[in-house]
Amino acid sequence: MIEAPKGTRDILPAEIGRWRFVEDRAHALFERYGFREIRTPLFERTELFARGIGEGSDIVAKEMYTFTDRKGRSLTLRPENTAPVARAFIEHGLYRGAGLQRLYYIGPMFRYERPQKGRMRQFHQIGVEVFGSDHPAVDAETLEMLMSFLRVLGIESAALRLNSVGDPVCRPSYREALLAYLKEQRNSMCEDCHRRIADNPLRCFDCKVPADRDIMARAPAIIDFLCAECRGHFDRLRSLLQALDIAHTVDPRLVRGLDYYRRTSFEVTLSGLGAQNALLGGGRYDGLIHDLGGPDVPGFGFAVGEERLVMSLPETAAVPSGAPEVVILALEEEGVVGALVLARALRRAGRRVVFEPQPGRSLKAQLRRAGDLEARFVLILGESEIREGAVAIKSMADGAQDRVPLERVEARLREMSGA
Ligand code: HAM
Repeated sequence: MIEAPKGTRDILPAEIGRWRFVEDRAHALFERYGFREIRTPLFERTELFARGIGEGSDIVAKEMYTFTDRKGRSLTLRPENTAPVARAFIEHGLYRGAGLQRLYYIGPMFRYERPQKGRMRQFHQIGVEVFGSDHPAVDAETLEMLMSFLRVLGIESAALRLNSVGDPVCRPSYREALLAYLKEQRNSMCEDCHRRIADNPLRCFDCKVPADRDIMARAPAIIDFLCAECRGHFDRLRSLLQALDIAHTVDPRLVRGLDYYRRTSFEVTLSGLGAQNALLGGGRYDGLIHDLGGPDVPGFGFAVGEERLVMSLPETAAVPSGAPEVVILALEEEGVVGALVLARALRRAGRRVVFEPQPGRSLKAQLRRAGDLEARFVLILGESEIREGAVAIKSMADGAQDRVPLERVEARLREMSGA
């Protein structure tokens, strides 16, 4: 048997209601804030990620699915979607109109990671990007939308951790202080961190080796090195969040695993997620569009891991079941045409109807099957019904049964549903 590749997973019909539930709410809520959906390709030229996310990041150094196509071009399955959306923004000149561009996306991403609970090689993100303003009100409003999204889904106990990672003005002096510290600690750190110290010392915060994490927990924190502008931006953001009652904590060592962040960076963690406790992450990336060859346009965004979101939904979430309202049973071959015609009429009236042609199978077996499908009503076309141009209606909830002429079926279903 050929199985799905390691780190990928089929999302089966029994689970799909939970996915549709979160996606439907994302579409509805984000659009209320002026966001519009964008769909970009699943693969891009490799250099987009190398330049956008950064060569020294774990994602680019170790986790990309990169291949050469038949013409020798290097392509990569997207490990994230901020760089692709920025690329599309530049390519289509979306910056030309005055004002902000608010975009969102839902779709698969690919990272070659060691799979575990909540960590996949193909996973899904629901993300948003705002281009065109560095005002902290953009950060505050987008974070407010994010927390509303989690609330609408019934996810409580989400903890927002916030930091500022500075900008090119303040980062050099921080980098020096960090390097000085890391040089003292180097001998007790892992090989990967040796590479990180040489390439980009900030990336040592990504290390998952426990001893190195202890070392990094004592490292100098960027927030103590912010320049006046970055400090002002951060303080204003915090006061706006307070005005909106958005609870958050400042985590001075929150440095995210992608190089494009400037100033605001944040994550939301959930205790129930275990080791992979980051439900989502994001921040400001004011230099990215420019670095990718576009104009000097600032940006801000976040991405939620959809697997982790779906896992965290409360049991009580009003997830659509996908069950049919009506199952039609034809007990005789002569009833098949009538069943098809009736199914079509009911579907035209907006009902979800299933017909499985199994004439000759016993009524009992067919009713059991309708029960498995969790149908509300069963319509039975047996010998006498066919003769009389009628149909038997059975309510699965209370077993009540009735017989009506074919043309009365829809009206009777409405009465029986109490509508
Ligand atoms: P990220 O922190 O790399 O940020 O990913 C965001 C979220 O995607 C994570 O918090 C996690 O929930 C989910 N995720 C990441 N890797 C995996 C995986 N292997 N399996 C399951 N879920 C995963 C970004 O991707 C940025 N582009 C976010 C952003 C948007 N920043 C600004 N705009």
